[in-house]
Amino acid sequence: MAKPIDGFSKLSKAEKIDYITTSFTQDPEEAKKVLATYWHPDREVQDLHDEFAENTLTNYFYPFGIAPNFEINGKIYAIPMATEESSVVAAASNAAKYWLERGGFRVAVLGTEKVGQVHFMFSGNSNELTAFFNRVKPRLLKDLEPLTENMRKRGGGVTGMELVDKTAKLNGYYQLHCTFQTVDAMGANFINSCLEALSKSLVVEAREAQELNGAEIDIVMSILSNYVPNCRVRAQVSCPIEQLTGNDPLTPAEFAEKMVRSIAIAEVEPYRAVTHNKGIMNGIDAVVMATGNDFRAVEAGIHAFAARDGEYGSLSHAEIKGDDFHMWLEIPIALGTVGGLTRLHPLVRLALEILGNPSAEDLMGITAVAGLAQNFAAMRSLVTTGIQQGHMKMHLMNILNQLGASDAEKNRM
Ligand code: MEV
Repeated sequence: MAKPIDGFSKLSKAEKIDYITTSFTQDPEEAKKVLATYWHPDREVQDLHDEFAENTLTNYFYPFGIAPNFEINGKIYAIPMATEESSVVAAASNAAKYWLERGGFRVAVLGTEKVGQVHFMFSGNSNELTAFFNRVKPRLLKDLEPLTENMRKRGGGVTGMELVDKTAKLNGYYQLHCTFQTVDAMGANFINSCLEALSKSLVVEAREAQELNGAEIDIVMSILSNYVPNCRVRAQVSCPIEQLTGNDPLTPAEFAEKMVRSIAIAEVEPYRAVTHNKGIMNGIDAVVMATGNDFRAVEAGIHAFAARDGEYGSLSHAEIKGDDFHMWLEIPIALGTVGGLTRLHPLVRLALEILGNPSAEDLMGITAVAGLAQNFAAMRSLVTTGIQQGHMKMHLMNILNQLGASDAEKNRM
């Protein structure tokens, strides 16, 4: 049985590998070979990757693919996608081509507001706390100015700060709910730095405040929220129903009806909505990953949005209006095209270059389109051939590889 270890992070990479392979694998030499296979031959590139995270033993390769032919607001994009799911890039490419011939995708950014909160406990009088907050709010904002100077120069900063009484939900719980604009940065570091400074100023002001009669503010935590309903983007497609050709065995009108009905089911049935939205996230996550953004933040925020009415529902919608078919998607998504991995990771830099070095708003649109395209492709398969036909075609390569098929055998498929 393996023994626990002290100071693992202080060991050299070779020592870490020794400990892990000898303590936890059947064949340490074979395990070492597997790890070494994925090292980068260029020392500088390897060092860069080693330093992205702690206790790095090797690199975890992920396919970096491209879905070409996306027309978005009249401009052509080739969208980089990092995903291990075999049918995702093919499905996105098919949907891109389909809509290229039918007017392309349109996107609109509906807001770019980010959120952060200082959570605190206060056992004094709530009216006195409100009076105190209203008096010190200008000073709290002023105290933040040195921290926000650069962001303000770029057009961002703190855009709002409200005291929220949450005592009906949790005894003694209040928060400062703050809003931010972070322009092309995802903004996590900026927001968290502002909130931590703000919480310190709040405590100092409270100690000296007459209004509070000695009652203290006890800060619990200061942290951004990954729920950003006002940092939202909409992506849509539409065309005359008669143009919805190529969906055998359905006629264009039958296809449009079935698409609308299948999405209506996801709107009212959480079991279906989760899978429906998972298909959307196939596209969104792949772009978020390829562009070095935080897919966990994006996932958490989008699913919360899908449940905003109290029941989990579809992120996409469709309707027939007159003779036209419309399908659209709205998601909250906070992305960055500067800072973080965007500067450090060569492939992320390349992905952004392929996308024309987009602003964060542009990237919101591109990502939403990838989600909508994925959803269209999935629904199109589901209501026509069924999902297995396309899926299994793509999955076949994995099966052939598992069986050790030769290149000649793979080419015959
Ligand atoms: C598979 O990764 C995604 C789908 O299940 C999505 C859907 O059912 O809508 C095909």
